[in-house]
Amino acid sequence: MADKTGFIQTIQNGYTFKGDSITIGMPVWNEEVIQESPVRVPLSTFNRHGLIAGATGTGKTKTLQGLAEQLSKKGVSVLLMDIKGDLSGIAVPGESNPKIEDRHKLLGLKWEPIENNAEFLSISDEPGTRMRATVSEFGPVLLSRILELNDVQSGTISLLFKYSDDNKLPLLDITDLRKTLQYMSQEGKDEIEKNYGLVSTTSVGAILRNIIRIEEQGASKFFGEPSFDIDDLIRLDNQGRGMVNVVRLSDVQGKPQLFSTFMLCLLAEIYATMPERGDMDAPELVIFMDEAHLIFKDATKELLNQIETMVKLIRSKGVGLFFITQNPSDIPDEVLGQLGFKLQHALRAFTAKDRKDIEKAAENYPISEYYDTENLITQLGIGEALVTVLNEKGVPTPLVHTMLCAPGSRMDVLTADELEKTIRKSTIAQKYENELDRESASEILAKKIEELHQSQQETEDENPKPGGREEKSFVEKAISSSVGRTVVRELTRGLLGVLGLNSTRKRRKNSLF
Ligand SMILES: Nc1ncnc2c1ncn2[C@@H]1O[C@H](COP(=O)(O)OP(=O)(O)OP(=O)(O)O)[C@@H](O)[C@H]1O
Ligand SMILES: [Mg+2]
Repeated sequence: MADKTGFIQTIQNGYTFKGDSITIGMPVWNEEVIQESPVRVPLSTFNRHGLIAGATGTGKTKTLQGLAEQLSKKGVSVLLMDIKGDLSGIAVPGESNPKIEDRHKLLGLKWEPIENNAEFLSISDEPGTRMRATVSEFGPVLLSRILELNDVQSGTISLLFKYSDDNKLPLLDITDLRKTLQYMSQEGKDEIEKNYGLVSTTSVGAILRNIIRIEEQGASKFFGEPSFDIDDLIRLDNQGRGMVNVVRLSDVQGKPQLFSTFMLCLLAEIYATMPERGDMDAPELVIFMDEAHLIFKDATKELLNQIETMVKLIRSKGVGLFFITQNPSDIPDEVLGQLGFKLQHALRAFTAKDRKDIEKAAENYPISEYYDTENLITQLGIGEALVTVLNEKGVPTPLVHTMLCAPGSRMDVLTADELEKTIRKSTIAQKYENELDRESASEILAKKIEELHQSQQETEDENPKPGGREEKSFVEKAISSSVGRTVVRELTRGLLGVLGLNSTRKRRKNSLF
């Protein structure tokens, strides 16, 4: 029954929920905005993940801005990956303008400025609270990815992690990584080959060269201690608003490997750190990843499998992942199949491939008796989208052409002054300001090498027969040192590091200091 009454009935039935929800806009049918049946998203299904897709300039970033601030208002913390640097405006209330007025008149909704509590985070030279991770936490899989290693070289990295784990060598920063690699191919080669198998000097050489490359991209800023405590992302302010965390990544957008690996590391950390929850009325944290195609670009099969597993499992921890990208085909099918919330902005058909992609994108949405989906996708205006979400029973809601609300925070960037002011307000920045430099692999190995030389000297002096006790005394020494003890716990890594070993990681809060 494709008439207006039938349409309104369908939308009202589909988008009315028992629990709390967020209103994102009003339905459109036959070019008319229908004000009596808002399009809502139930809070309880935000951990069922989402997709925001659409051609450039169609409104993806503003949509994520709007969702993020509404979630924050409901006491849910959010984490935004600001790749283009166009999300900083979320830190200040917006100002009305004729365009916003017109839009909200059409919607029949009052537009109100929204003040968010924002925290700017940084992994690079961008100003903001410093996020770091140790090489150990990063794990062999991600490290191989960031270094763009082949299988043989990745094998060498796995060996390095195994050796460091067994010998309680804390891999904190890039210096530790480099030192341990050098040790593996020089002084420690015999010892390691005896216990672990061949060490390819060529691989080690290639890895060392790639380390220089990522250092040039600024990776040394990111590796080290104190590593970022995931609990700091999930905070409520005194007004009950969830924290709006914005990771400023605009200066790493030209370095996809660094950026995407960072993103995966963060996800793995969040996954490993957050406790298991049952069904919840609202999520704990929702993560919005703009330019999500970068995560999947050039990903190995192994990595893709791990991402897929993580997307499946992280849901039960109350974490929702929202992927923002131009075309749904940027996301692997296995991941796409896990996304309950789908919001499709306009796609443009310039080429034959575009038309194929649009056809495929349309198939991604529930069949509608009210819309010709494939055609409509190309006709949507800016800030309009085709929407389907999961209802509280986990069933997809009917597809609805939605005119979206305008964000209540500023739709433009902050000035340098405003940015600085927001950063100065941070209550956690100080905790991460200064890099720690405690004893780690590089120092321990340096000592060991010295010992080796000394004992060699002694054996040569006393007795020409080589002794075989050094490695044991070294291990004993490492275990008995204070670093050795604290590090045992830290060397168990997050999902992307040791998924296969099924290791669980202690909450870092308890183990770091
Ligand atoms: N919900 C909305 N309300 C009001 N204006 C909007 C809305 N969505 C988009 N716009 C307008 O469209 C412009 C482009 O939106 P936006 O930056 O979100 O596009 P995008 O899809 O993220 O583009 P890109 O792919 O280039 O990043 C905004 O600057 C704003 O003027
Ligand atoms: Mg954008």
